[in-house]
Amino acid sequence: TVPWRGVIAEYRDLLDLIPDDLEPVTLREGGTPLVPSAWLSGVTSGQVHLKVEGDNPTGSFKDRGMTAAISVARHEGAQAVVCASTGNTSASMAAYAARAGLTPIVLIPEGKIAAGKMAQAVVHGARIIMVRGNFDHCLQLARQLAWDYPVSLVNSVNPVRLQGQKTASFEVVDALGDAPDVHLLPVGNAGNISAYWMGYQQYFDLGRATKRPRMRGFQAEGAAPLVTREPFPDPETVATAIRVGNPASWKLAEAAADESGGGFAALSDAQILDAQSQLARRDGVFVEPASAAGVAGLLADVAADPAAYAGATVVITVTGHGLKDTATALSGAGELVDQVVDPDVDQAAAAAGLR
Ligand code: F0G
Repeated sequence: TVPWRGVIAEYRDLLDLIPDDLEPVTLREGGTPLVPSAWLSGVTSGQVHLKVEGDNPTGSFKDRGMTAAISVARHEGAQAVVCASTGNTSASMAAYAARAGLTPIVLIPEGKIAAGKMAQAVVHGARIIMVRGNFDHCLQLARQLAWDYPVSLVNSVNPVRLQGQKTASFEVVDALGDAPDVHLLPVGNAGNISAYWMGYQQYFDLGRATKRPRMRGFQAEGAAPLVTREPFPDPETVATAIRVGNPASWKLAEAAADESGGGFAALSDAQILDAQSQLARRDGVFVEPASAAGVAGLLADVAADPAAYAGATVVITVTGHGLKDTATALSGAGELVDQVVDPDVDQAAAAAGLR
């Protein structure tokens, strides 16, 4: 079999806005595993699969859209690219821009970027500008820079991004043989849920799926504009990736939820962190806090109605890798080391509780 070539080459004829003579800038993103969760299948009496997007080259789903956005930006002669980001978009943009020979400029909210994501922007050579404000301020600035200066905007307000990101739903259907009954995922700036819905609709229209899933989006209580239907001027959550108060793709995301018969719900930071921890301990999948919101949402739905997903095929996107933010993962862990011993087998065995 041919090795995976990246999402543009794999799905080129299904992507709009990609010029025919476009040379992809790719790190062989996509082709991520759809991993069955015995734990969550048991909890729901359904079949639950995790779409593990942390397995992408820069550790999040952003790479799917970024290969498209950076390829088009280079094709159109851009010299520099800009994005606002809570960390993953900037990490991805920095990597793909480096590969394309473009200057990456990132705008990040003050003090709220996980260390791993910051490291990625640094090592790939981005110009990093920290803004005294939140993500929404950063996005407004990025738009203004792209209007007034020779720099291309690669946030998901750039429609090319969603074209790349929708490939995740193609992969889900290709793996399952049909669309799932329900798809759950975290929602921040709301591009991803919009892109998934585009992809599922396209496959349905092409006859490659017999149905379309209900789309359920989950936000943090402190940053839940799609739930309350009001912008959050001062969003706050431990899940910094989805600390967004006024999502750019608000309308598209609402349409996805409405047209699919799905909806949005909010979770406490404690629920999100608990889901992150359980997913790591029960399924061996380490995701960053925001990425666990879909799992937390499924657990909350089942707590409210034990039969909510009975008999259903369910896909949960876990959006980014746990190594992005080790500080949060370790913050509730207490003592990290159980015991310190000499290089002595008896001491080691005793410390390990072996006998
Ligand atoms: N999960 C992770 C790990 C994210 O980084 C993001 C968004 C989301 C979920 C939500 O996806 O915005 O399409 O609704 N991160 C953006 C960023 C805001 O700047 O990296 P969305």
